[in-house]
Amino acid sequence: MRHFQRATRGKSARMSAYRYSAIALLLIAASGCASSQSSSPNLDLRAEEVGTTVAQATAKGLRGAERVGFILDKMTTAEKLGQLNQMAGGRQIALNSRITDAERDRVRTGGVGSYLHVAGAEFLGDLQHVAVEDSRNGIPLLFAMDVVHGYRTIFPVPLGIAATFDVDDAELAARVAAVEASAAGLHWTFAPMVDIARDARWGRIVEGAGEEPFFGSAMARAQVHGYQGEDLKRPDTIIATAKHFGAYGAGTGGRDYDSADISERTLMDVYLPPFRAAAEEGAASFMVAFNDIGGVPTTANKALVNGLLRGQWDYDGLIVSDWNSVPELLNHGVAETRSEAGALALVASVDMEMTSGIYAADMLEAVEASPALEAALDAATKRVLMAKDRLGLFDAPYAYHDPAREAAAMLTPDHRAAARHVAERSMVLLRNDAGMLPLKPQPGKVAVIGALAGDARSMIGSWKAQGREEDVVTVVEALRKRLGEEFVVYEPGAGTRDVADPAAIAKAVTAAEAADVVLLITGEDYNMSGEARSRSDIGLPAPQKALAEAILATGKPVVTVLMTGRPLDISPLDSDDASILLAWFPGVEAGPAIINVLFGDAVPAGRLPASFPRRTGQSPYFIGHNPTGRPADVDLSKDSARYMDIPITPAYAFGHGLSYATFEYTNLRLSSDTLAPSDTVSIGVDITNTSITNADEVVQLYTRDPVAQVARPQQELRGFARVHIDAGKTKHVTFTLRPEQFAYFAPSARFEADAGRIDFAIGAGAADIRLAGSFQVTGHVIADGPAAAIATSVSISEE
Ligand code: NOJ
Repeated sequence: MRHFQRATRGKSARMSAYRYSAIALLLIAASGCASSQSSSPNLDLRAEEVGTTVAQATAKGLRGAERVGFILDKMTTAEKLGQLNQMAGGRQIALNSRITDAERDRVRTGGVGSYLHVAGAEFLGDLQHVAVEDSRNGIPLLFAMDVVHGYRTIFPVPLGIAATFDVDDAELAARVAAVEASAAGLHWTFAPMVDIARDARWGRIVEGAGEEPFFGSAMARAQVHGYQGEDLKRPDTIIATAKHFGAYGAGTGGRDYDSADISERTLMDVYLPPFRAAAEEGAASFMVAFNDIGGVPTTANKALVNGLLRGQWDYDGLIVSDWNSVPELLNHGVAETRSEAGALALVASVDMEMTSGIYAADMLEAVEASPALEAALDAATKRVLMAKDRLGLFDAPYAYHDPAREAAAMLTPDHRAAARHVAERSMVLLRNDAGMLPLKPQPGKVAVIGALAGDARSMIGSWKAQGREEDVVTVVEALRKRLGEEFVVYEPGAGTRDVADPAAIAKAVTAAEAADVVLLITGEDYNMSGEARSRSDIGLPAPQKALAEAILATGKPVVTVLMTGRPLDISPLDSDDASILLAWFPGVEAGPAIINVLFGDAVPAGRLPASFPRRTGQSPYFIGHNPTGRPADVDLSKDSARYMDIPITPAYAFGHGLSYATFEYTNLRLSSDTLAPSDTVSIGVDITNTSITNADEVVQLYTRDPVAQVARPQQELRGFARVHIDAGKTKHVTFTLRPEQFAYFAPSARFEADAGRIDFAIGAGAADIRLAGSFQVTGHVIADGPAAAIATSVSISEE
């Protein structure tokens, strides 16, 4: 598949280069040869007098920051506020529905800088013409959408993509999404969500990469690169948004939008690293979170946004509010009027305001009366214009509006193949105790049980962008295609919401009893995770539980496929002879991908990006827990940090995932027992596939600092690699680390790594450690950022 990836990129690069130059030629022709104008002083003068502000700047030969500076100088305060205004051009389910004549007038008068919930090359091209040709300044609009796990070709939900444990897969999904979205007239996606999620009750855990900051940082980099490519001026790239800056994932009780009351250390070492990684990767935009940290809503958090992000991290990209989050400062109780709320956000350095119109409608007087606000407005407007410049929109405003390109880009065979590839690789074999998997090629009569098996809508997850149910190949369809109609019986049995119907369950039981093998497809539906979808009980939905219990009670051989957007309490499924494949919400190729994994055409190697607790009450559970003075002890007679009614371990820990193959870890190699401040240390291991099945293994490196100025987490991921190893073969995997990777936010408020011992462990999961060792860091180190945001270099070689 790496070949596929390269081939796709090469092809789209060539196609885009061709289109880009064609568009550039057209523009030069249409502008009447801008370069000849600028060589004539008379024509220059005329350019000053006529044409839009952008055309004047361009005719003067100004580019980049100079052109933006020229435009800014000519803008009125109202026009600047207009540039900061992002309006909803439609709704998620009715794109473009709000683009009325009144909206077009708003564009003409420079009252808007961007639209979200819009799409369509031609439709948006027409709107762009209004902005570029009919407004005084001629500033192009930015068109945005939540393109989260695909545009038309829907990939697995982000937590599933993360479960591939492969940054190339994450990048591939983002790249395909960008190719399709950009062809549909979009410049900007509100993705990736890089919020660390440690509490599975939080519905938005589905949108991110799970619980671990080092892992989240790696996935953040990959996705930013996938969306933005090497050069945002290429018209098949789109701006990525690292969201939701701050600690959105730390809402109290796992409730969406709720306050994060966390320590500064946890903020710095756990929640911010993926944002730091995204910023370093060049994410051209950030979104601030809805919620507050210790009483300060991030939308108004001057210290965090303007101070840390802009100041310390030197981030000069475009920062957007979340939907209505500026006026919601009134609800938080930190502003009394709309204009006060707007001022707080603007001064915090939130450049663009999403949907309420507050900047444009309520801030004019306040800005005119305050030099500080005026300066903040200029800085924000400049950043909005620079984002447009980075996309190349001042020179090629219609580069994203080619209907022929749009028609050709969607759901191509290559894109479908990519979606299937990532879906197969996202699946996690949770257990296979009775060895039921892979299924025999001719397993006899198969009963497929569970409404989710035929639920095309759920298979594409909650942020489906332009994904369509009719594009989805369901599990039932894929299995019928593989085995023939006569070998497949489908009984929905129960849905996810309604009260279980005993008669429907009885029918499912009858079908199961008559079959040779039962495929139980169970879990949550797509609408049980996502925004505002927190749950107080993360068990199976009641009707699903009733169905599962009835089917398991038949005593027939049952293979369970779990569909979910979050870790669940799956204790009803978790018997000692269970075979459970976690499929998440796999996207348009759900059916073929699941079936390929079940039959062993694709060997599962996905891993959990978030631990599965045994019970809801064990949430939040994560591997980066501190040891405490009385560490959790299996011995209940000791007073320790645990619940008395369940074991101290989770049901399945971060990094867990089985294979149809077996692997042996040997020959641990350490380049040195010591690590000096400016040096590196390499840890190598040999992995042998001891089975007869070619497969991938996900090698994971964990570290721990046993004695520091503050308690340090029991396990921190510091390296991972998904490695393909043929049967009987061995590969060498080497991780190379720097001392800064052991730094933490110390009492000094700096990132420090102390001299002393570092323990490390290598294995196939956080709870499946195979080899371990330690080395000494020989000197004290000050790092300039969070350790988890630093990438580990990994090398893989053959025997
Ligand atoms: C609110 C969500 O929090 C955010 O993630 C999303 O990008 C915006 N709505 C726009 O749809």
